[in-house]
Amino acid sequence: MKNRITIKDVAQAADTSVTTVSLILNGKGQRFSKETREKVLYAQQKLGYIPNYFAQSLVGKPNTTIGVIVPDIGNPFFSSFVKGIEDITFQHDIVPLIFDVGEDVSRANYYLQRLTQRTVDGFILAAPSIAQEIVDQTLNKNGIPYVATDQTYLANSSDEVLVDDEKGGHLAIDYLVREGHVRIAMVMPTLETNNLLKRFEGYQNGLVANGISFDERLVFNTEFSRYGGYVIADQILKSDATAIFCVNDDVAIGLYRGLKDSGKKIPDDYSIIGYDDIDWCQFVEPQLTTIHQPVYEMGTKSTDMLLNRINNPKMAHQSYTLDVSLVVRDSTKSMEQGE
Ligand code: RIB
Repeated sequence: MKNRITIKDVAQAADTSVTTVSLILNGKGQRFSKETREKVLYAQQKLGYIPNYFAQSLVGKPNTTIGVIVPDIGNPFFSSFVKGIEDITFQHDIVPLIFDVGEDVSRANYYLQRLTQRTVDGFILAAPSIAQEIVDQTLNKNGIPYVATDQTYLANSSDEVLVDDEKGGHLAIDYLVREGHVRIAMVMPTLETNNLLKRFEGYQNGLVANGISFDERLVFNTEFSRYGGYVIADQILKSDATAIFCVNDDVAIGLYRGLKDSGKKIPDDYSIIGYDDIDWCQFVEPQLTTIHQPVYEMGTKSTDMLLNRINNPKMAHQSYTLDVSLVVRDSTKSMEQGE
């Protein structure tokens, strides 16, 4: 394998010094003759030299890199989120480094520390395993900007992009009640993050606003995944629920399978509503009714906000809340429709 081309190779080929090459390649070469500048650029192109990130940082060229920490890149929700981020960073010649940490606190700490050591310019944090203490230790103490969104909740210390999760839960229940359901279950994850608890609050408020008492026997906790939805079916079958609001689409899709394996039909036996509006909703049978979250915008907005903060470190705290909406498809049935 060939050795990596270095700045020394370019200097040698252009018959000049490393400092001259460095200044010219970093846009600070106005003091040199046109001939020298052309010689350096020609040598760079001919050799295929790519300036080293760290060397460039030393001469002050803005090589912005941001760290993005998500809990589950396997969930299409986070793929759309990352797409939103990349569409903005690409426009600004910024490199996002993306990490999936699940619920693993030590992994989240590891990336926060390592990226901070590598002088990353800022972070977008969306995972529940990012603890306040480690953010205080690494980011707040070092004045490193970050935006908290989705499953990351950090009290009073960061910029944030929120989604109106309480409204999402409420919308789901209003719709099921309009369809004539009274025994409405909710499937929640065992790890209840702030945004998901807001969704749950919306579920409770929706019941009460519609004159239905909250019944904790209709709340089912499970692993936050398709598998979690699948295995919770057995318990739901033992309840008298006629409709189920799932904390996200992934869980709803798992539940579809669990109910199907027990010979149940959706929506004839159970009405189901998901949350997120991932593209899968339109490809499962029946198509899944859900609450739409503007996840792509969560990505673009978080990135815009972070760049704004990087450029204006002294600016006041930024907080932005995105709206949600109900998307009616085929997974619910009116109780009045009969068989
Ligand atoms: O599907 C991923 C889920 O986890 C979404 O509902 C999102 O809001 C997150 O918290």
